[in-house]
Amino acid sequence: MSKPSFWQRITHKPDVESTLNADHQLARTLTTRDLIALGIGAVIGTGIFILPGTVAATTSGPAITLAFVLAAVVCSLAAMCYAEFASALPVAGSAYAYGSIVFGQLVGWVIGWALILEYMLAVAVVSTSFSAYFASLISGFGLHLPQAISGAFDPAHGTYINLIAVLVILLIGSMLSRGMNTSMAVNRAMVLVKLLIIGIFVVVGAFYIKPVNWHPFMPFGVKGILAGASLVFFAYLGFDAVSASAPEVKKPQKTLPRGIIGTLIIATILYVLVAIVLTGMVKYTHLNVADPVSFALNFIHQPQLAGIIAVGALAGMFTMMVTMIYSSSRLVYAIGRDGLLPKWFGEVKNQLPHHALTTVTIVIAVLGGLVPLTQLVNLVNIGTLIAFAIVSLGILPLRKHEQIHNPGFKVPGYPVVPVVSFLFCLLLMSQLSKETWMMSLIWFGIGLLIYFAYGFRHGK
Ligand code: ALA
Repeated sequence: MSKPSFWQRITHKPDVESTLNADHQLARTLTTRDLIALGIGAVIGTGIFILPGTVAATTSGPAITLAFVLAAVVCSLAAMCYAEFASALPVAGSAYAYGSIVFGQLVGWVIGWALILEYMLAVAVVSTSFSAYFASLISGFGLHLPQAISGAFDPAHGTYINLIAVLVILLIGSMLSRGMNTSMAVNRAMVLVKLLIIGIFVVVGAFYIKPVNWHPFMPFGVKGILAGASLVFFAYLGFDAVSASAPEVKKPQKTLPRGIIGTLIIATILYVLVAIVLTGMVKYTHLNVADPVSFALNFIHQPQLAGIIAVGALAGMFTMMVTMIYSSSRLVYAIGRDGLLPKWFGEVKNQLPHHALTTVTIVIAVLGGLVPLTQLVNLVNIGTLIAFAIVSLGILPLRKHEQIHNPGFKVPGYPVVPVVSFLFCLLLMSQLSKETWMMSLIWFGIGLLIYFAYGFRHGK
């Protein structure tokens, strides 16, 4: 047989049947309830406690509620596309696998690389917020961490490592390495705590709403809503992580679409409620603070409730990290399984991809513990939007694929809805800054180097 050409290699598409059978070593234990817990766990993290305040103050005004709705529309279109893919191809690796199957190896790799960026960076960022909230919580009891262990490596400012961030990531990594059952039980409990505390805020806060605070409603005009949507998009990240669990889900064709769409509906309702209550309690101009929700509760003289919110925020961040570390390990496992990264990553022991999990945990711990991340946060949004855009477009070749039979969920309004979803992702991407675009070009340049140096030769 002649050697495949360059073009044949980069567009090589894996066989559907063998991809569907590739993950039989993983245990099928997850139900719809687990998936929604996983989804809510991933999606509602730091965003809900911060963005409704800061983005209202700086970008959208009380119309932040509309920014949340707009971002939800973009996400729900992408979510439907994810749900169709997850139903047609319940395989590990989520968008990476979908991209490889319908567009070929190179596009698959680019999506995988974008998702690695999204997941790992998002968790590292949240681990540092967790550390900050934790420090402020224990300072309420008179305990203070030494300066040296409370920030990224920056000797000029006297900080060497963010120890709490490292410890919480190692804790989650070791919990996940014990199997899904324990992790899911802990995750479910934490999700309930988080929902309960958000519920308390909405109910109590509603009594302190002064409608006058909602005027003017759109101080920054329509532009403010659009720019606000591209920022609060961060708060919706994570629902795609649900589809990463496909090979571990019972009855994936029903369960996955329900998990993905259910997660998004619950998150949207909560975000809009929190945004309405928060901007009703306090004039939006006061909300550009690090912890707007606690600020609002102190404003109405409810300091005990502000303390409880801090506990809810910690629980929220914890579940976000559990889910995202879980998903990134499954992603790296799938990429290793296909030979685009060393096969070692794709090995499974005791029904778990231990090598992928250990590596991901260590990389995130180093990022969260040592690297100053403020400049990198917006890369998370662009990485995700690229993956969403390709998944949306991917519905077109998916429907035409001869080997794929999907009796489960299908995006309504085909082909208009997937194309509109793609265009909306481009619209939000166009709102991000030049620096973010430059940094992402560097990231994808590195990704292409790795692909041509390794995956191109070793990919199955
Ligand atoms: N959606 C996640 C959060 O808000 C990333 O923390």
